[in-house]
Amino acid sequence: MRYLSADVGKKISRIGLGTWQFGSRDWGYGEGYAGQVAHAVVRRALELGVTLFDTAEVYGFGRSERILGQALGEDAASVFVATKILPVVPVAPVVEQRAVASANRLGIRRLDLYQVHQPNPLVRDGTTMRGMRALQRVGLVGEVGVSNYSLERWQAAEAALGSRVLSNQVRYSLVARSPERDLLPFAESHGRIVIAYSPLAQGLLSGRYNRASRPGNSVRANNPLFLPDNLDRAGDLIAAVREVADAHAATPAQIALAWVLYRPAVVAIPGASSVEQLESNVAAADIELTEQEYQALQAASDQFHPVVGRAALPGLVRARFRH
Ligand SMILES: NC(=O)c1ccc[n+]([C@@H]2O[C@H](COP(=O)([O-])OP(=O)(O)OC[C@H]3O[C@@H](n4cnc5c(N)ncnc54)[C@H](OP(=O)(O)O)[C@@H]3O)[C@@H](O)[C@H]2O)c1
Repeated sequence: MRYLSADVGKKISRIGLGTWQFGSRDWGYGEGYAGQVAHAVVRRALELGVTLFDTAEVYGFGRSERILGQALGEDAASVFVATKILPVVPVAPVVEQRAVASANRLGIRRLDLYQVHQPNPLVRDGTTMRGMRALQRVGLVGEVGVSNYSLERWQAAEAALGSRVLSNQVRYSLVARSPERDLLPFAESHGRIVIAYSPLAQGLLSGRYNRASRPGNSVRANNPLFLPDNLDRAGDLIAAVREVADAHAATPAQIALAWVLYRPAVVAIPGASSVEQLESNVAAADIELTEQEYQALQAASDQFHPVVGRAALPGLVRARFRH
């Protein structure tokens, strides 16, 4: 495992573990997963040196936090636990109360990273950050983070907090490269962190899925990347990823993760549906791409033009009726 050199007191592994899947109906992995596999995934992650664990109050309506907390047990104290508040009522007293509730579900005294899950479109971050500041003062929160924030709003959140907002958790992968525009340069030059979510594009970049074999859960039924036409369009990109993978005796998923980690301020939090996937994802931290490989993957990614937004709606509706 490789770790980020950030001055946060605890080590942050460059591959972390995302736990939206834990106890979530949307992913549909079932009770066997929530009751046993998730626990085994966390324990194996700890053995392999993973120190970054990401959850949120909204995942499985609190179940993910509970499952993660139980699986970590006393080891929670030595790793970096990150959770998120959904800012529906973004005022300081609510922020404080929700942090206590998350810590209770996780069974921990301190949230190493407390993130605002997404920007509230109507209310700016002043009172949320007042709550965050109070939480930091009493020691319930270590670092403050945001998620799905533009650079401008990230910086405004820092101004409101009066100190650094350590991280911005955003979608970042070979099929979602907008963070390259300004978030990554800012993080790299200011000692901040970009936490890459959906680094495998929810499994698309594993190369496992195609028109004839599509994943069946509701998360991916609502993701236009898994529409048959887009799976066809992704073929060349997957082939390019596979070519690099072959040169490293690795899998496409591992190369997709190594590509994300090529940028120094990035940590990735792939989810895992099995212990084997977790092991494979952790091993990706040790793959170093050459500059040439990195550029070849960029070029293949530049050529991928999925149908998204409004144009994808009819396909998504059709797909829904077929399931
Ligand atoms: N802040 C936010 O708004 C936000 C949004 C989304 C996610 N997140 C966080 O980011 C985490 C990861 O994102 P994500 O779950 O959306 O997408 P992801 O990590 O890109 O994809 C996870 C899925 O990919 C497949 N997979 C994982 N490892 C694999 C491997 N080694 N080989 C083949 N397939 C593999 C598994 O699905 P199958 O085996 O079923 O194919 C797994 O459930 C979440 O758990 C959550 O913590 C945050």
